[in-house]
Amino acid sequence: MYEHIKKEDRKLFDLIGEERARQHEGLELIPSENYTSSAVMEAMGSILTNKYSEGYAGKRYYNGNEFIDEIETLAMERAKKLFKVPHANVQPYSGSPANLAVYLATCSPGDTIMGLALPEGGHLTHGWKVSATGLFFKSVPYHVLADGRIDMDEVRELAKKHRPKLIWAGATAYSFKYDYPAFAEIADSVGAYLAVDIAHIAGLILAGAHPSPVPHAHIVTTTTHKTLRGPRGGMIMVTPKGIAKDAELPQKIDKGVFPGLQGGPHDHQTAAIAVALKEAGTPAFRAYGKQIVKNAKALAKALRGNGLTLVAGGTENHLILLDLVPVFGPSGGVFASDALEAAGMTANKNTIPKDPGSPFYPSGVRLGTPALTSRGMKEKEMEKIGAWISRAVTAVKDFRLPEGKEERVAYLASFKKSLAKNKELAKIRAEIKAFAKKYPLPSDR
Ligand SMILES: Cc1ncc(COP(=O)(O)O)c(C=O)c1O
Repeated sequence: MYEHIKKEDRKLFDLIGEERARQHEGLELIPSENYTSSAVMEAMGSILTNKYSEGYAGKRYYNGNEFIDEIETLAMERAKKLFKVPHANVQPYSGSPANLAVYLATCSPGDTIMGLALPEGGHLTHGWKVSATGLFFKSVPYHVLADGRIDMDEVRELAKKHRPKLIWAGATAYSFKYDYPAFAEIADSVGAYLAVDIAHIAGLILAGAHPSPVPHAHIVTTTTHKTLRGPRGGMIMVTPKGIAKDAELPQKIDKGVFPGLQGGPHDHQTAAIAVALKEAGTPAFRAYGKQIVKNAKALAKALRGNGLTLVAGGTENHLILLDLVPVFGPSGGVFASDALEAAGMTANKNTIPKDPGSPFYPSGVRLGTPALTSRGMKEKEMEKIGAWISRAVTAVKDFRLPEGKEERVAYLASFKKSLAKNKELAKIRAEIKAFAKKYPLPSDR
């Protein structure tokens, strides 16, 4: 594998080898990550990377795009058929530019927009203050209730008061199904566009494991590399309702992507999206998407059974939020996520609703099952993984984050050092290494 890189760049070859071993020997619990097929990787590594094709099929600024036009059209047609939408743009380089293009298509700088607040699960590009979307638009964030669910009454009140041009539904750390009809009713009542960002749940929607927003939204955006299991990338779709609101919305979206935001599309990425969409249309993928949710529920049960606390007690999708306040007090996410890593499990620290810590030192950890499910793991395996997670957290349960800034830095440095000497974490790591080898990545099958 990678014989040409080996010959030309030994240093890089070795690093890829190390990452490969990490992916094989560990358990990937980050809910936004996944493993693509060999076919998707081949498309990403194909000669299509050599081409420039600014513009759209039949209307390019460069010559030589006869086949690129066909490839991009294939990807678009597959997206349209699968998601049942009349228009799809497959050019966004990733999820964030896809969302930015939606602003260009629907708003002017300074217009009011609404999205779920970032510390409560929302994404940066839904108007959070440090993002361009919060800097260039007047962002009115909405929140979740104490039980972790979106406060739809607040969404309604804020929409009435601020009359936004655009409302986002969708999140990056939210373990419930969305009430799309309620969002649609609110957006319609104030004449706003409803954009639903399905980055996390696109694969679940195609599998029938989560309702589709298409009948309710005007615009749907997604990444292609999470539950959809494609290459890193993004897509924007316009729904029948979107066209009914504004017949020119497809053209506005296309203009928002190019020339509004991007130059030449990444044609190798477009081809890999086409492959992923073909794979996502199979019965095997439907079974995969359903299994992701079954596994998340089984993992949630195992975590609870091993004494851990979950936001809202569980999950309705692929994602679980561990509430670590009962273990570490505020801001313990870092202890748990670093202990998990030392034990061979990759997750990320995350805020929990009404977090007593801060976004940088949050009190939760975000876990997900899309990648584990891609390795063929099922409910039985989730029981084992739940027990390992609990053991790893317990192994560091006596750490407490100090209040003072400087004290924190020194304390965390000594905590990190202690991980390398922690015998329980080393023992779990060895157990996981032996276990993980039995579950090949899709690209090795
Ligand atoms: C809901 C949501 N939207 C958009 C994005 C942005 O995607 P990308 O990281 O590809 O820019 C993410 C990424 O985590 C996400 O979770």
